[in-house]
Amino acid sequence: MNNYDFNLKDKVAVITGGGGSLAGVFAKALSSNGAKVALFDINKEAADIAAAEIVKAGGIAKGYKADVLSKESILAAYEEVRKDFGTCDILLNGAGTHHPLATTGHGQLTEENMVDGSRSFFDLDIEKVEWVNRLDFIGTFIPTQVICKDMVGKKGCSVINISSMNAISPTTTVPIYSAAKAGISNFTSWLSTYFSLVDIRVNALAPGFFVTNLNRNIMYKEDGTLSSRSEKILAGTPMGRFGDPEECAGTLLYLVDPKLSGFVTGAVIPIDGGFSSYCGV
Ligand SMILES: NC(=O)c1ccc[n+]([C@@H]2O[C@H](COP(=O)([O-])OP(=O)(O)OC[C@H]3O[C@@H](n4cnc5c(N)ncnc54)[C@H](O)[C@@H]3O)[C@@H](O)[C@H]2O)c1
Repeated sequence: MNNYDFNLKDKVAVITGGGGSLAGVFAKALSSNGAKVALFDINKEAADIAAAEIVKAGGIAKGYKADVLSKESILAAYEEVRKDFGTCDILLNGAGTHHPLATTGHGQLTEENMVDGSRSFFDLDIEKVEWVNRLDFIGTFIPTQVICKDMVGKKGCSVINISSMNAISPTTTVPIYSAAKAGISNFTSWLSTYFSLVDIRVNALAPGFFVTNLNRNIMYKEDGTLSSRSEKILAGTPMGRFGDPEECAGTLLYLVDPKLSGFVTGAVIPIDGGFSSYCGV
């Protein structure tokens, strides 16, 4: 296995949330190993910027306006991909988020904080709860339903979902994101079985804590020092630091290359500096 080159030459990869922080790193990793990369994002400008960086580095990439909550939007964007690059071999479901109004303002309920205006569970905004739940679960379901149809009958295709540490054990304050990510881990298992006879492998990455646009404002205080939440996260991470997005790329490349992982399906791999293995004592 020494000096193994990942071989993704001419593979077509669709990455949702492709203008985002982790997806941008994933896109570069796939591209630098030969894949043609289609970046789907509701924020077309972000997808275009990420694609332009890849093209500048000599890769093949393009940004597409696509909303993972709309089947019509994904169908239309994917039709463009088929014309530009051909049918998809690798689908990476990277779009995901949370919303402040779907998070509680405290970690545990007391009789006092229930009425102090700090947003208890009883005050969560149903509309935002539904939105987060939809984006973090249905936002993976729709692209998978649309795009995997084309993978049937092809060889060596795979789907990569993005779960989270919150799927294993929910962090305080983020109930809906956590429940939706648990759904993603479960859906990964279900899909892996469903697709196994047609040679579509389905696996997931479960990142620990990486500072990105998704969470920067909760990881750091305005003065740039660590928030108390971050201090707890680092205390619960045996390696004692946040992850670097680049540290997810190797696991992704392993999972999409059938020569390395052809018998691996249904796996949800923690990339977490030991967070999920450590009970805190
Ligand atoms: N950052 C972390 O520590 C961490 C940890 C575990 C899991 N994750 C997961 O990794 C994934 C990427 O996270 P990130 O930190 O790079 O976030 P990010 O906010 O940088 O990227 C998310 C991207 O999704 C796009 N998006 C949002 N709604 C969309 C929609 N309806 N259709 C299409 N695109 C849409 C956004 O425009 C953005 O570009 C998410 O699923 C997130 O839950 C992140």
